[in-house]
Amino acid sequence: MSAPPESDVLLIENVPASAASPAGGVVSVWTINRPDKLNALNAEVNTALKSACDWAESDDSVRVIVITGAPPNEPPEGKRPKPNSFVAGADISEFEGKSSAEIREIFDDNVWEYIWNLTKPTIAMIDGFALGGGSEIALSCDLRLATPRSKFGTPEINLGIIPGGGGTQRLCRLLGYGRALEMVMSGEMIGGEEANRIGLINHLVGEDEIGDKTMEIAQNLASKSPHTIRVAKAAVRAALEQPFSAGILAERDLFCALFDTADMEIGVKAFLNRETAEWTGA
Ligand code: COA
Repeated sequence: MSAPPESDVLLIENVPASAASPAGGVVSVWTINRPDKLNALNAEVNTALKSACDWAESDDSVRVIVITGAPPNEPPEGKRPKPNSFVAGADISEFEGKSSAEIREIFDDNVWEYIWNLTKPTIAMIDGFALGGGSEIALSCDLRLATPRSKFGTPEINLGIIPGGGGTQRLCRLLGYGRALEMVMSGEMIGGEEANRIGLINHLVGEDEIGDKTMEIAQNLASKSPHTIRVAKAAVRAALEQPFSAGILAERDLFCALFDTADMEIGVKAFLNRETAEWTGA
């Protein structure tokens, strides 16, 4: 496996995928590490995340990516502890004084699209604030797990702006028009329980269990054929991009093409022989 990019603001730990098939795969866990600023996305974090995406996409041993935020540091004596945070948004201090042309340059090549465009499964593990650009990181991932104390929101309206990392579109697709518009216009936060109730997250998990539950899900995804997983993701994504009838055809094309793959042959044979499939990834 190639070396992941190194950065102080994005810690990358590669956990061997126990049932990886083909063997040797890893679950790559990325921790956004600016806890004193509630893991806000400054230029350095954005660059590190983009490099990590390029690396993960190019290295076959990376099977699943987990993105999370660093827990708070011990506070200095006499100071209150900082709250837990996934990512409390884009770094607002970097907005000051920017013109529309300057901000467009940054947002035209933005981190949320890098994450969204990963062809491997991505999981956001959320314990704390997921606000603004942080909620958009979560929305750019395929799955979201969160603790009850987590808080989701798009508070950009309170800064005189709107979400710019795909939040309006992805929230609308995930929650429907009514709820998305309410979140975007009100800027109000919702807790983990409510996020679970409305389908903003996939799983609500206690803070002591979320690490294990996330890895259990990641390990399961890492045990599938990496090729078939990519195709599955592309097929479901087709529903977001195309009219229903075109999506049905796109799915059929992808489904039929799988019948020319080694992994389809292996999977079907393994089932019929009551064996565990050993994928080739092709
Ligand atoms: N950008 C830059 N810095 C941020 C930040 C952001 N999005 N969110 C939090 N921080 C910083 C604070 O400035 C503070 O820094 P300091 O200790 O050096 O002063 C530190 O993180 C802790 O935040 P603080 O506001 O003191 O914590 P809190 O518990 O009182 O409030 C929040 C927590 C999340 C409610 C509050 O920080 C907040 O509203 N953040 C901005 C959320 C937002 O609008 N995000 C969308 C951006 S587009």
